[in-house]
Amino acid sequence: MCGIVGYIGTKQAAPIILDGLSKLEYRGYDSAGMAIYDGGKINITKSVGRLKVLENLTHGGETMPGICGIGHTRWATHGVPSNTNAHPHYNAAETITVVHNGIIENYLHLRQMLTDKGYQFVSETDTEVLAHLLDYYYRGNPLETVTKVLHRVEGSYALGILFADCPDQVFAARKDSPLVVGQNEDGCFIASDVPAILKYTRKVYYVDNQEVVRLRADHMHFYSVDEEELTKEPVTIEWDANAAEKAGYEHFMLKEMYEQPKTVTDTLMPRIKEKDIVIEELNMSDEELNSVNKIHIVACGSAYHAGVTGKYVIEGLARIPVEVDLASEFRYRNPILEEGAMVVVISQSGETADTLAALRESKARGFKVLGIVNVVGSSIAREADNVMYTWAGPEIAVATTKAYSAQLVALYLLAMKFGKARGKIDSKLFASLLGDLKRLPNQIEMLLNNKLKIQKFANRYIGAKDVFFIGRGIDYAISLEGSLKLKEISYIHSEAYAAGELKHGTISLIEEGTLVAAVSTQPDLYAKTISNMVEVKARGAFVLAVTCEENKEIEKAADYVIYIPETNPYFTNSLAIIPLQLFGYYVAVGKGCDVDKPRNLAKSVTVE
Ligand code: AGP
Ligand code: GLU
Repeated sequence: MCGIVGYIGTKQAAPIILDGLSKLEYRGYDSAGMAIYDGGKINITKSVGRLKVLENLTHGGETMPGICGIGHTRWATHGVPSNTNAHPHYNAAETITVVHNGIIENYLHLRQMLTDKGYQFVSETDTEVLAHLLDYYYRGNPLETVTKVLHRVEGSYALGILFADCPDQVFAARKDSPLVVGQNEDGCFIASDVPAILKYTRKVYYVDNQEVVRLRADHMHFYSVDEEELTKEPVTIEWDANAAEKAGYEHFMLKEMYEQPKTVTDTLMPRIKEKDIVIEELNMSDEELNSVNKIHIVACGSAYHAGVTGKYVIEGLARIPVEVDLASEFRYRNPILEEGAMVVVISQSGETADTLAALRESKARGFKVLGIVNVVGSSIAREADNVMYTWAGPEIAVATTKAYSAQLVALYLLAMKFGKARGKIDSKLFASLLGDLKRLPNQIEMLLNNKLKIQKFANRYIGAKDVFFIGRGIDYAISLEGSLKLKEISYIHSEAYAAGELKHGTISLIEEGTLVAAVSTQPDLYAKTISNMVEVKARGAFVLAVTCEENKEIEKAADYVIYIPETNPYFTNSLAIIPLQLFGYYVAVGKGCDVDKPRNLAKSVTVE
């Protein structure tokens, strides 16, 4: 996510940039930096940690005089948080500097190409290739240089670019990562998000994909990547600053739910290349993949629930035995880890104490640990032998949504990688699975846009006392997460049960009107789950069903049905979770709960 701010005008740029970056702190970051043209050259200052460090280092910007510049708060994806990896990045002569939000998916190829041409890299980031590629194409025409570079890069980007030879201009460009530009009587502004420039202007232009903006002190020009000049209409922002941080959403949780199509895309697409799955960070050959005879997945909370889904998917597609453990149990139960086993720890924050302890226990016993982590440079990311990042960007709401969805698709990719290497997935099934994976983001978006039906249903259960979530197989895994989402933000007691287990005791709790959410997305289990629904209805339950569009039979047993679009049964959790997230959210909102910061909870549980 991170933040970009740029300015060119009649005022000192550094204080404006620092102020703008401070309005983007909610987006999360781990380091920061600025590049300011002082009338003769570009000065660059970077720092690790909070923006305050950069502010103090530059005395509020005073040590960096100049009326044009770019600034950045970094949310690392490639390369740990460090001064060297912080932005701006620059060419060897420090005459071209760039700040970037996003992921350059083909950076390894570009880095190799530029290295072969004699360029020297100093950082571990993907972004640095942009600085040297700009240098490679620069012949004195900055717009032509920018567009040539954009034709070469693949992935997502929001860019701010400064050329020392052309200090009367700042450039911006965008593909998939957000970027706005604006103007007032003192100059022109670039920002990742509206809050950064709201105090200067409420009239902004949203930069669209593959558009380039040339900003001068008193005007802006828009271009396509083919250098055709474009005309754009401004948007007047009515939001206040606080609302703008949530991009107009009422809560970060809702904003992050709506970011799920992008986080699923960002986690999936860089790892799908030429109709194959490439997980470079796995560092395992097919032979090594074949040598794994058991996988232990260890995590807490929602990450554990993702692991339960992972068990069903990996066992189903790769036919490797998978054991899933709560990290707080694993670390003290003297687990049996045998030769050929592999440990996978899952953690959004990368700082969960129990999960970190489980990682250390596994490594102490000589077992390799793969981390599926969202925060680059976190403790778990640093200590795992290999890390598969979820690239969900910073997650602000305590209740995870987008990071959880990214964990699911990371596990799907892992299952397919193992399954293909072990000959368990033939080329026809592999192609079909890839097709279904690529359709998930749009299907998630469609379900999110169907929120009104869920919102109305949720309003009926604001006073609920007990809610049960049931499902069989992979649907049990999603019931666990659906139940946690409801209880952790609405404070309504809820339990998830394997649907076939309810009758072994807990069904005694079902009373007239008790809500039971039945998840049924596995065709070979449709009938069984319908039987369980009939059982609870016979005891007075009101049954909400979440099922696939093909399963019309369920309408005989359910009181209310939410349909999800067709996908491979192994991937249905990614879709079924959307109505369950929305249900928990709207019940909590209806109860007036503090959705983003629920009582008693922390975003990262760094204690036992
Ligand atoms: C999820 O909504 C909860 N906030 C919590 O269960 C969380 O998933 C758990 O604490 C694990 O956190 P981690 O993914 O950062 O390790
Ligand atoms: N991928 C770039 C990096 O890791 C940019 C990350 C961001 O969006 O802050 O430096």
